Amino acid sequence: MKLICNVVGARPNFMKMAPVVLEARRRGLIQVTVHTGQHYDSQMSAIFFDALRLPKPDFDLGVGSGSHADQTARIMVGFERICLDTKPALVVVGGDVNSTLACALVAAKLTIPVAHVESGLRSFDRSMPEEINRILTDHLASLLFTTEPSGTQNLLGEGIAADQIHFVGNSMIDSLRSHIDQALADKPWERFDLEPGRYGLITLHRPANVDDSAVFSEIAGALIQISRDLPLLFPTHPRTLERMEQIGIDLGTVRVVEPLGYLEFLGLMAKARVVLTDSGGIQEETTALGVPCVTLRLNTERPITVQVGTNRLAGITTFSIVNAAREALSQANVSHTLPALWDGEAGRRIVNIIEKALNEKGTHISQPTNRDEVGRLQGAFPGEEDCLE
Ligand code: UD1
Repeated sequence: MKLICNVVGARPNFMKMAPVVLEARRRGLIQVTVHTGQHYDSQMSAIFFDALRLPKPDFDLGVGSGSHADQTARIMVGFERICLDTKPALVVVGGDVNSTLACALVAAKLTIPVAHVESGLRSFDRSMPEEINRILTDHLASLLFTTEPSGTQNLLGEGIAADQIHFVGNSMIDSLRSHIDQALADKPWERFDLEPGRYGLITLHRPANVDDSAVFSEIAGALIQISRDLPLLFPTHPRTLERMEQIGIDLGTVRVVEPLGYLEFLGLMAKARVVLTDSGGIQEETTALGVPCVTLRLNTERPITVQVGTNRLAGITTFSIVNAAREALSQANVSHTLPALWDGEAGRRIVNIIEKALNEKGTHISQPTNRDEVGRLQGAFPGEEDCLE
């Protein structure tokens, strides 16, 4: 039997990978899960395993925080040891965090095929660490699972072979659909004395927004203004809290609380009047829930969320954010179509493809070589074939 090695590391990985891990377990596939420890606080990690009923990881690298190079390097060293010991037939990574790239790189160098869940998204902004992680991971992967048509188009545009790309839908929305009833039944808004449909929810953690005091002050100015008309609840990422203290940001009437668990946040998001965020996943979750989302960024790697009408790009100035929030609040009802294949079945589709690939004759899933491209280059430069081997 061939071993599947699943990788998780940071908060958004857990919701994306849980449907894959649970479906593989249901089918009796042999698998191990490695937690890199990129996120380690119980509110950023353990609480998600419990809520998603994810089995405890088989390995925990416990790498913790650090600079990008330091964190990525420590994950690589630890993960290489696990790969050499367990010899997986496939490594499955999700999303775009440092753990995703670090483990994909280790596997590819050991000639272990890589599957990438949530492949092909592009902001076309290489100042985002996640954009670098996405591009490199996709070019190391053999099985690329896309969530929206733009993902497939981007990969084809980068010369990745069509037979390696699989449009499967969004596994994060599988998690949402399996947990929304319980999340609503818990009525998490009551803990904060909020009324359904009469509050806004904020998340903010991107380095581009919180590490630059001028940008953070602009955003803070907008949040304070909006909170005069609508109560705003702000579960705060540890990085953001640290920056607020360093820069001396006072959010006035905005209610700043600790990071929340998956179910609590999901319930609050589902009944929010508006969500203001710089997260990627939350743009998708609000789309699935039909809740207006104001994205505090200049670009998005998830254009489908804007196309279906739930999400708007607000920029990062006080003026542009307040205007976007006003527009969102004046929308009586968000009418939107659910993006194709965001139907709760993405995990099943992914495992179908993985199982088929592992069972195919021979021991190996093909490594990502774009043969058409090699052929084209060889044709274009006759006589230089040897250089391309
Ligand atoms: C990471 C991802 C980002 C994702 C985000 C979700 C990268 C490059 N970034 O950003 O794509 O959207 O996770 O949260 O991988 N910290 C704690 N406790 C924790 C984890 C972090 O206090 O459990 C603090 C530490 O001060 C740390 C800082 O948060 O230095 C940043 O953590 P890190 O994992 O480097 O990046 P995130 O900002 O969380």
